[in-house]
Amino acid sequence: MFGIFSPAIIFAQTTKNETERWNMLEEHSQNIIARIKAIVEEKFKSEGSGHDWFHIARVMRTAEAIGEVEGADMTLVRLGALLHDIADHKFHNHSLEEGPKQARALILEVGGDEILANEVAAIVAQVSYKGAGVATPTDSLAAAVVQDADRLDAIGAIGIARAFAYGGSKNRLLYDPAVKPQMHSNFKDYATDQGHTINHFHEKLLLLKDRMLTGEGSRLAEERHMFMEIFLNQFLEEWEG
Ligand code: ADP
Ligand code: NI
Repeated sequence: MFGIFSPAIIFAQTTKNETERWNMLEEHSQNIIARIKAIVEEKFKSEGSGHDWFHIARVMRTAEAIGEVEGADMTLVRLGALLHDIADHKFHNHSLEEGPKQARALILEVGGDEILANEVAAIVAQVSYKGAGVATPTDSLAAAVVQDADRLDAIGAIGIARAFAYGGSKNRLLYDPAVKPQMHSNFKDYATDQGHTINHFHEKLLLLKDRMLTGEGSRLAEERHMFMEIFLNQFLEEWEG
């Protein structure tokens, strides 16, 4: 009765166009993710400072798992995870601006638009731990997911290994009972602290469980946290003899 303008036909048409548009967007996102992954993998393949490609790949996998459960935007989660350590402050005079800046430039370079570039840069800016007394809020679910995933890789068995690898690379002592942990109230003090590696557990690693931002992140942190406590108890028992 409505002929060619039948609402059903118009509806079907819109849905088809929407689906096509969605598929194209999806393909575009996949393409951007693949290109960023290739760039990051190449850059981090030869890193040995705890920020090797395997760290990025683990954070990506954990972020994907958390993101799926939490219902986050998976394009942002994947790009944020891939780019979160692109320009570590430790190698850029403790500047926190270099990472977001490079992330933004790379997204534009591989064909992403300004909105995507800014969203990913914002995630990269919100991931880093900045000291026991410094809050690190996020303004998107994707950023919360990436922050949790990165922090999960700093705790548990892998976290312990990374902490001592990092300490060793800086010629730090494993432990010195006379040097007590500090609850840093600003990023500069945290970033320039020279303490022994056991202190790092009290200044960062043991605090992460209660600072998880997502439910799934908290859940995944439990077992890893417990393992660090067991490790530290055993370490001190052996130390004290
Ligand atoms: P992330 O990649 O988790 O953001 P960082 O860039 O702060 O972590 O550090 C990389 C790794 O080195 C992490 O596992 C972190 O806990 C460890 N690390 C950072 N600072 C220290 C330190 N002062 N002593 C021991 N380990 C550290
Ligand atoms: Ni990281």
